[in-house]
Parts: sequence; structure tokens; C-alpha cells
Amino acid sequence: MGMDLRAPRGTKDILPPESYLWKEIERVVDEVALLFGYDEIRTPIFEQAALFKRSVGEETDIVSKEMYLFTDKGGEEMALRPELTASVVRAAIEHNIVTKQISCSRLYYNSAPMFRYERPQMGRQRQFHQFGIEILGAVSPLADLQVIAFSLAVYQKLGFSNFHLKLNTLGSQSSRERWREELVKYLQFNLDTLSEDSKRRLETNPLRILDSKNPIDQAIVQGAPEITDYLDEADAEHFDELQSLLRSAKISYSIDPHLVRGLDYYSRTVFELTSTDLGSQDALCGGGRYDTLIEKLGGPPTPAVGFAAGVERLVLVLSKLRGGEIARPKPDAYLVIADKEGQEVGIQIASELRNAGFSVIYDLLDRSMKAQMREADKSGTRFVLLLGSDELAAGEITLKMMDTGAQERISQENLANRLKNP
Ligand code: HAM
Repeated sequence: MGMDLRAPRGTKDILPPESYLWKEIERVVDEVALLFGYDEIRTPIFEQAALFKRSVGEETDIVSKEMYLFTDKGGEEMALRPELTASVVRAAIEHNIVTKQISCSRLYYNSAPMFRYERPQMGRQRQFHQFGIEILGAVSPLADLQVIAFSLAVYQKLGFSNFHLKLNTLGSQSSRERWREELVKYLQFNLDTLSEDSKRRLETNPLRILDSKNPIDQAIVQGAPEITDYLDEADAEHFDELQSLLRSAKISYSIDPHLVRGLDYYSRTVFELTSTDLGSQDALCGGGRYDTLIEKLGGPPTPAVGFAAGVERLVLVLSKLRGGEIARPKPDAYLVIADKEGQEVGIQIASELRNAGFSVIYDLLDRSMKAQMREADKSGTRFVLLLGSDELAAGEITLKMMDTGAQERISQENLANRLKNP
């Protein structure tokens, strides 16, 4: 009987040793969050579908094509979350984390699973994972800078620097609407030459035509009206200030007037970090401001900014950077128990050593001493502990230092102390 059960298309099992790379990334994100003073938030994997329709936007690909939707037994329409900003905002409103007071929340999430029904390819999955931050309540470009600096700090700590920061502004709502009107006029004028996809988008989501990959669309887009000519004074000032903050922080960037992002909630700053180590799915992370979203979802008017990064894509670039070598932790001690009579004492010794903070493994297969010795050798352990019948009778144990090969017999009681001062 053949087994034809497989992980669903677009999902991946994270197996050892790759899981150690995931752990390392999670540790670094936790560490950077602590350094920047962020608190962790965790929200449900599924939400009412309406949440994403109202925030990410009905006309976006994410909501209109890629959402995992289901009706639960109570008849409610639910969605597996395609992203986390909407959920964080929902939770913040629900628990009064954002209030009308002057305060600001710094929240982060780590290795959180997301779901989008996309066509799988390298760096694009149907279940993928994100870490990211959301700053709720800060209008200053200082917050925009911090979002970018946070993401850079994570990559930097992991030793990865082959990326490029792309920056744009989408203006506030009124600027954007004026620009959008002119953009639509211009695109309508070029309607006949636009790709079929873009013709359709013109009706539903014209901004997305700007990041079309189709060369003919791109040629038209080159001559399109640009948002920078439509910004109001406050928008322009915000963008200028952010750029001068970036310059003084020595963070290099380029302005990409066609960076619009695939989610509708953005206003003013948007950014992406891209890497040439990734294929066509080259965005390591992306984010921006969403100054009207909290109010739109029923909270008090609250400016906000954040970013999210794909863990799978980071794993791809890190594996490449490190030549596929992923370090597994090695046990401190491998305990060889020569025969069954020694098991009870052996288990006790192992547990005492673990309580003293040493990792200890021993054979679970009742294998011969020779086989255990061979495995101890392979495990890369620092200490081999041998519990034979002589040792057992004397209340002792043989300790072998694997780096020097030196061997000694000591009392079982002294073992933990001896390992502490090898
Ligand atoms: P996003 O650009 O849709 O933004 O996703 C952020 C990152 O998640 C991408 O840059 C990419 O690394 C990763 N990602 C997205 N889709 C996939 C996929 N199908 N497979 C693998 N990785 C993927 C957001 O999600 C916003 N919530 C970011 C944000 C936070 N904006 C403000 N705050």
C-alpha cells in the first residue's frame, strides 16, 4: 500500500537541521525586540473574513484571490489570516491598547504563520511565516525610521547585508486621491496598449498597475503622473524629514516612485527591502504607514507604522550565505550504559547532570556498548561517561574528555562538579 498523503501544496515541513536556522532567526528577532523595547503580541490564526476585506481591501489580490475562506459551523465567514497588521489593529482596538491618550505601543510578532493561496514558487508559499513590528500612536517620521532600523538590525545581526532599501510615499488620503484621479486619466488615455491584467486593474486597483512586471505596461508607467507632484505640505515635509533621518543614520536607500505595495491601508511612507539573492520574489520585507486604518476599523484616530518580513525568504538567503552549513547543537555528555543493571543509576545520573545544566543523551535502543561508543563519538559530545559493571559496583563512573582523550574514574557524586571544571 503506497502512501500518498503529502504536505499540502505550497506548505513545507521544517525539518532538522533547518529548524535550527529558524530558531536562530527567532532568537535574533526576540533579541532585537528587547533592544528596541518592543512587546510581543500573538493573535488567532483565523479571524472574521470581514476584517481583511475592510483593511487590506476587497480589490487587492490578497483578499480577492488569495484568502483561505471557510464558513464555520455557526455560519460565520472566517479567513485564515493572510497578514498580521489587520489582526494587531483589531486586537489593539478590542483591548483598548490604543486610546485617545498620548501614548504609543510598540508591538512585535515572531515566526507567525500566514496563509495566501498563491502559485507556489521559490520564496513564495501558501503557508509562510512573518516577523514584524507595529508602532501604534506615533505620527513622527522618527517612528518610520525606527521601523526601517529595526528590520535592518535583524538582518545585520544575522550577518546578512546584501539587500537594497526602496522607499516611496503614497501621501495622505486627500493627496493620494488627487494623484489617483490624474493617474487614472493618464492610464485611460493609454488604455489600448495596457496589458489585459492592467486593463482590469484600472477598474479595481489602478495603483497596482505601477508595479506591473509587463514591459509594455512599464513603458506606459514611465510617463505616468507621480505622487511627489501631488503631496500636500505636511506629506512632503514628512517624507523629507524621514530622508534626512535616514541620511544621518547612514542608511542608504533609493526612491522608487512605483512602489505601491499590495495592501490598501497604506498612507505616506512605504518601503521594501529587496535582495538579489532571491529570485523574482525578491522582497525580504515590506511595510509602511497606515494612519487611517485604526479609525477605519472603529478605533480612535491613531497614526501607525510597521513592517513584516518573510522568514522563508530569510532562511533562503542565509542558507546561501552560509553555504548550506547549519550548526546543530552538540550534547555536553553522552552516557554509555554498558548493561541493563546500570539503567536505573544511569537515568539518575543523567537527570542530575541535566539539573546542573548539562545536556545529556543516552541510547534508547538497548544497543551494545560498542554501538553506544560509536554513536557517542559521532555525536560530537565533549564528555563520554561510561557506566560499566565495575563502575556501578564502586559508585563511580569513567569520564572521557573527547578533546584530549584523557580518561579518569571518579565518584558519581563528584561528576557534576568535575564537568564544571574540566
Ligand atoms: P507583505 O508585503 O504582504 O506585507 O508581506 C511582507 C513580507 O512577507 C514580504 O516581503 C515577504 O517577505 C513575505 N511574504 C509575503 N507573502 C509571502 C508568500 N506567499 N510566501 C513567502 N513569503 C511571503 C504585509 O504583510 C504587511 N502586513 C506588512 C506591514 C506591517 N505593513 C505595515 N505593518
